[in-house]
Amino acid sequence: MKFLITAGPTREPIDPVRYISNRSSGKMGYAIAQAALDAGHEVTLISGPVAIEAPANARVVRVETADEMFDAVHANLADIDAAVLCAAVADFKPARIASEKIKKNDGIPAIELMPTRDILASLGKILKKNFLLIGFAAETNDLEKNAQKKLKTKRCDAIIGNRISTANPVFERDENEVVIFCKDGSQRALPRMSKTQLACELVKIFSSMK
Ligand code: CTP
Repeated sequence: MKFLITAGPTREPIDPVRYISNRSSGKMGYAIAQAALDAGHEVTLISGPVAIEAPANARVVRVETADEMFDAVHANLADIDAAVLCAAVADFKPARIASEKIKKNDGIPAIELMPTRDILASLGKILKKNFLLIGFAAETNDLEKNAQKKLKTKRCDAIIGNRISTANPVFERDENEVVIFCKDGSQRALPRMSKTQLACELVKIFSSMK
């Protein structure tokens, strides 16, 4: 199969030296990319800025912002069998990017935000989409309700739900525990395991869904 995988955070610039971002390390997406390669699949990895090494043999496209990730994903859809959107894309970006560094002495800046384009939802809207569409949902509360809502509104085949809690901190960690919510209404909880192991399980599940 040909996988397109997004991973890592995005950075939304405020001025030439500052940005808004999040705590995503990219580990889950990179582990899925590695597991897919190990299983003999082809991988294009669209990655935000991360501190980890990309799997050898993946075709890597590096981006910074949500807009760049959106464009890179849409430019790499040809012939894919599965899109696994693991990236923690910023939901908001500054409405204006200051061309010069904002000076402290000029007072506390009011930074107006605007929504970024939703990559997952944009793929769900493609007519005659012939690839598997997998999204992720990281939730601190109401995991099932929120994941089911994302599954429907973003028209995915499955949502991988992460319950974020002190018992499952997820961000920057090597382990994860997820529940898979499928379009047919079925759900499957996977026990806590390393992101490497989990990635292998997920790749097996994605292959069986195609
Ligand atoms: N996603 C995306 N493009 C965006 C935002 C999110 O592709 N601009 C994808 C993520 O890669 C992930 C899923 O959508 O697969 C996450 O859904 P989202 O509704 O954005 O979750 P949250 O960012 O957690 O938003 P909410 O505040 O609604 O929980």
